[in-house]
Amino acid sequence: MNKLKLSKRLQNICNLVENCHTVADIGCDHGKVVANLFLENKIQYAIASDISQPSVEKTRQLLTELGYIDQCSILVGDGLANIDPQTAIDCCIIAGMGGREIWHILTQSVHSITSWVLQPMKDESFLRKQLVSHGYKITKDIFFYDKGKYYTLLKVEQGKQRLNALQVAFGVTFEENQDFLRYANQELQNIKEYLESATTGKSKKDLKKRYQLLQKAIRRSV
Ligand SMILES: C[S@@+](CC[C@H](N)C(=O)[O-])C[C@H]1O[C@@H](n2cnc3c(N)ncnc32)[C@H](O)[C@@H]1O
Repeated sequence: MNKLKLSKRLQNICNLVENCHTVADIGCDHGKVVANLFLENKIQYAIASDISQPSVEKTRQLLTELGYIDQCSILVGDGLANIDPQTAIDCCIIAGMGGREIWHILTQSVHSITSWVLQPMKDESFLRKQLVSHGYKITKDIFFYDKGKYYTLLKVEQGKQRLNALQVAFGVTFEENQDFLRYANQELQNIKEYLESATTGKSKKDLKKRYQLLQKAIRRSV
């Protein structure tokens, strides 16, 4: 086999990994990301780790079938806890978890890591805010649509960066993104309908704020 059938989300994650020696995939689950990186000749060694034993076994099986198992270290553990801190990791992937969980894993790591590929399923604004206020910079911030859902994908390195409120909320380069414009218009419409039908409630105030932020972002995008 020299190609795996990947979703757009998983392919986009792989696309952000540039040629490197060692990659770590935390929360590897099915193992497809690491497997595809080997098939694309992008990596020489992989650490695939997951907190769930059954997930790790899926990864082990796939990498065994593809013949890459000798170039892998497959571990069960919370975040990077079971990875030798002496290992130099060129790129660490954490995908398919909430932004708060990703941030927690990132801050627990004591490893030498050159770059990160992060794909939060929610709380992406929280993650951006934490990253830039703790010595990281977001070098790529991709927003895309796949199978009925919108996703955020970040490439991160150590460095300095300042983001304004719109960039924290919607991404570093949201103005250039047609998927964002589509998403923002849809969300604006949803909030409008909700606000028209809802009576009272604390969340109404937050939604009005979000509505205004979305309007501002849309004006910047066109
Ligand atoms: C939704 S799956 C995402 C799998 C894959 N990364 C992807 O993007 O398709 C989330 C995976 O993260 C694992 N996970 C959750 N919390 C974790 C943690 N603290 N450390 C390691 N793995 C974790 C889960 O067991 C699960 O396999």
